[in-house]
Amino acid sequence: MRIILFAGKGGTGKTCMAAATGVRSAALGHKTLVMSLDSAHSLADIFDVDRSLHDRAQGKAVKVAPNLWIQEVDVQEEIHRHWSEVYKYLAALFSTSGLDEVIADELAVLPGMEEVSGLLYINEYFKESSYDVVLLDCAPTGESLRFVSVPTALEWYMKKVFTVERRLFKIARPLIKTMTDIPVPEDSYFVALEDLHGKLTGVDAVLQDPTTTSVRLVTNPEKVVLKETQRAFMYFSLYGLCVDAVIINRILDERTGGAAFRKWRDTHQRYLKEADEAFAPVPRFHVHLFSDEIVGPKELARLGEVLYGEADPTAVLYDKPPYTFKKIKDTYRLTMTLPFATKEAVDLTMAGDEVIIRIGNLKRHVPLPKMAAGAEPTGATLDGHTLTVTFKPRRQPRPRP
Ligand SMILES: Nc1ncnc2c1ncn2[C@@H]1O[C@H](COP(=O)(O)OP(=O)(O)O)[C@@H](O)[C@H]1O
Ligand SMILES: [Mg+2]
Repeated sequence: MRIILFAGKGGTGKTCMAAATGVRSAALGHKTLVMSLDSAHSLADIFDVDRSLHDRAQGKAVKVAPNLWIQEVDVQEEIHRHWSEVYKYLAALFSTSGLDEVIADELAVLPGMEEVSGLLYINEYFKESSYDVVLLDCAPTGESLRFVSVPTALEWYMKKVFTVERRLFKIARPLIKTMTDIPVPEDSYFVALEDLHGKLTGVDAVLQDPTTTSVRLVTNPEKVVLKETQRAFMYFSLYGLCVDAVIINRILDERTGGAAFRKWRDTHQRYLKEADEAFAPVPRFHVHLFSDEIVGPKELARLGEVLYGEADPTAVLYDKPPYTFKKIKDTYRLTMTLPFATKEAVDLTMAGDEVIIRIGNLKRHVPLPKMAAGAEPTGATLDGHTLTVTFKPRRQPRPRP
């Protein structure tokens, strides 16, 4: 099964790109599912699907064309299916804190439940080979990063906290109950978590296998959007996912805008060049601003053509992680593959929270993870095609007296 995540800032065109890729993939004969993980679902609207039919699906997949299904994950339904024990405990906990019951119910939908629900489906579909291709229309960047970090976080929780906590409550539950009104999690809460964990086992390996899973970042040729895309690029790499394409959408060119938009067109051209510097050698796709919004299968097919031409959109377009970041004692080590690098000197410049790497006429902007921002580069070595840059935190922790 092939999995492709469409991620990026809100409004850049993720849903359109995921849907257009789906239309093209299905037309090529692949059994395809487009699944929306954004709670502000818009898949059904983009496909122009009858709402009543879609609402009856209650968050399950609906067939919209030969070989093509769409699914909008419904977190309320998922709570009934998988989370009821966890949810019941949290809602009870929040309501004893004096919160209004409606608010307590809302709060008990923890951040991450939507993402975990999506992961549960992916793991199930993967294990059962339910589809040839699953395209994920992700929530805006922050939430989709949480999506890929959940397996790591959950693994940590299960290993380090879960067993201890469960054992502790087993012993102390009767005593705690006599001391306080605050609800104590029953063992069913732990059983539910264990069951969820079991269902998620292996999903991290699926996401990190570049022959199965790729991320396609959707962006616009504008400063703020590109910056966020670069950060997303870095964070996905950090979690071990491969970005196999960057789609630069809504470009104003000679087709669009007329004389009044000349300045915008120049700006876009400038940022297209910057995008090359930031994302090469990962392939970049350019999509112009269409003359109207993109709705319905016909328009989606046209968008698919602009995007991929005759090519199969489900192919793996790039399978190397752009860079890895490791912390070794108190130094950070950034390793990246530069397929075109020669033996020329490496020049490093820090600019805010990113490092600019220049080798000959090659230039790369690499945003640093939050923890390493403000660190000072201490050295760079080029070994074959592998560049290694080391950083030291600027402020050393003060030694204890
Ligand atoms: N290349 C394009 N030309 C014209 N309209 C576009 C283009 N790409 C996206 N849109 C429109 O922009 C809006 C937002 O797109 P959408 O795919 O829903 O973004 P996202 O899912 O990233 O929030 C939609 O109304 C869509 O029709
Ligand atoms: Mg969307």
